Amino acid sequence: MEITGKSKIMFVLADPIDHVRASAVINAYFRSIGDDVAVSPLHVLPGDLGAVVASIRLMRNVFGFGVTIPHKTRVIEHLDEITSTARMIGAVNFVKRTAEGRLVGDNLDARGFIESLLECDVAVRNRKVLQVGAGGAGRATAFGLAEAGVAELTIMNRDEEKARALAAAVVAQYPATKVSAGRAEARAFDLIVNTTSLGMKADDPLPLDIEGVGPGATVSDIIVNPAVTRLMAKAIEQGAKTIGGKSMLDAQMVLVARLIAR
Ligand SMILES: NC(=O)c1ccc[n+]([C@@H]2O[C@H](COP(=O)([O-])OP(=O)(O)OC[C@H]3O[C@@H](n4cnc5c(N)ncnc54)[C@H](OP(=O)(O)O)[C@@H]3O)[C@@H](O)[C@H]2O)c1
Repeated sequence: MEITGKSKIMFVLADPIDHVRASAVINAYFRSIGDDVAVSPLHVLPGDLGAVVASIRLMRNVFGFGVTIPHKTRVIEHLDEITSTARMIGAVNFVKRTAEGRLVGDNLDARGFIESLLECDVAVRNRKVLQVGAGGAGRATAFGLAEAGVAELTIMNRDEEKARALAAAVVAQYPATKVSAGRAEARAFDLIVNTTSLGMKADDPLPLDIEGVGPGATVSDIIVNPAVTRLMAKAIEQGAKTIGGKSMLDAQMVLVARLIAR
């Protein structure tokens, strides 16, 4: 990969940095579509975030930067503007730097997630969805699902108060959607979505029981690595359709490519 003065430069800000793989995926993606874009991970400690963002503002060949743990919320105070989606979710995962040096924060998780389902021919509108997890990614998928017109959304989470708070926030934005929080039988749903981090490690327990879920239902796991989680393997065994987290990440690359092309 050749990086020159003509390349569009991007960063991914994180702490810790060792686990960050998004930059490699983004570089490979832009190479595959022939765009002259280069992405580098930047190890940024929380206390240095403001100074780093202020410096990036001055770098005229930088088109944007991705933001990940633990900066997704704290970065907002250092930006000029955030989109309504990022405001609703309460977190930013991509910042576009305009030619004038303005920094505009967006959250591509929700759109990336919905696009990945649609690309895999999984209908969302009017479907009954069970989501497990109410963390940062879970907030994005819940708002994305409501925006996409699901009939019913049930949110289950270890910390039940967080699930209730998320359900209330989604209903406040999308009053026509039936949203609830609490435990439910997975077999009663068309689409089951894991947004917890359970499944990243080989010995993690399953995030939920999917007994009885079979053909006709879809199990989506937004974990990127491993590509096939234990939850997905069980769903495949039972004849359900599955979608992994890589499709959500890929869909976000396309959104980033569109944003930086503008
Ligand atoms: N594919 C993509 O593009 C994409 C994008 C973003 C994130 N992700 C993935 O999504 C996953 C979650 O990320 P996040 O940013 O939402 O993390 P987060 O904000 O830390 O939330 C973690 C979620 O997992 C739950 N959880 C963690 N450990 C648990 C356990 N032992 N038992 C039960 N529940 C547990 C948490 O429940 P409590 O609230 O009870 O703690 C919470 O709902 C990660 O694997 C991340 O890599 C993928």
